Amino acid sequence: MALLHHVAALLVSVTVCLGTERAGVPPVAISSGSRDICKGLECPQFTVLNTTDKWELRHYPLTKWVATNATAMNKQEVGRTMFRRLFQYISGANAANVNIDMTAPVATKAIPGQGPNCESEFIMHFMLPFTYWQNPILPTNPAVYIVQTPPMDVYVRHFGGFATDDDYLENLATLSTDLSTAEIAVEGSFFFMAGYDGPYTFINRRNEVWIVKQ
Ligand SMILES: *[C@@H]1O[C@H](CO)[C@@H](O)[C@H](O)[C@H]1NC(C)=O
Ligand SMILES: *[C@@H]1O[C@H](CO)[C@@H](O)[C@H](O)[C@H]1NC(C)=O
Repeated sequence: MALLHHVAALLVSVTVCLGTERAGVPPVAISSGSRDICKGLECPQFTVLNTTDKWELRHYPLTKWVATNATAMNKQEVGRTMFRRLFQYISGANAANVNIDMTAPVATKAIPGQGPNCESEFIMHFMLPFTYWQNPILPTNPAVYIVQTPPMDVYVRHFGGFATDDDYLENLATLSTDLSTAEIAVEGSFFFMAGYDGPYTFINRRNEVWIVKQ
């Protein structure tokens, strides 16, 4: 049962390395996927393949992003630094010296550490506005780069509020357990944390964890 092993390995690594506690998480309502979760900002144009009371399965086409990465024990240690680098890129720290519109979500790929020091790699992404996909403007900071994610199907669980690392990890654990129970094969070595709101949005905040379908 390789798939169960993968999910179990992801969970073990997250539990051991990122320190989540498998606290009881109240179930959350799952949206139909039809409303505008990006609140007027440009965001990747996914299609909903399936919806259950536990997750939404989405297909994302190839998507272009500006990204930066860091290694740390948890996202909280490096989140601000990564965000600032990307924010500077859209605020003019780029080869054309132009302002670039903010998009949604801020998507952070986490590759939980397996090593003895348990450090994980975090790669934070802002989607490039579609107008720049053909000819992305290069960043001036060498720690910032343009990347594309391949087409992928992802299982999504969402929750509200101001998300902490623990909130993401608890929801990841719940989603991972639900998928494992359904014997669904997933990519077990990384996951995504997606946040749709800036710090000054106080209501209807949306956060998601994504696990990629195998
Ligand atoms: C959609 O979900 C249902 C219920 O879990 C499942 O039986 C079906 O195979 C799923 N379809 C796809 C395309 O994942
Ligand atoms: C960032 O990613 C590159 C390419 O994968 C890697 O070589 C580098 O070590 C990473 N930097 C950090 C700080 O994790």
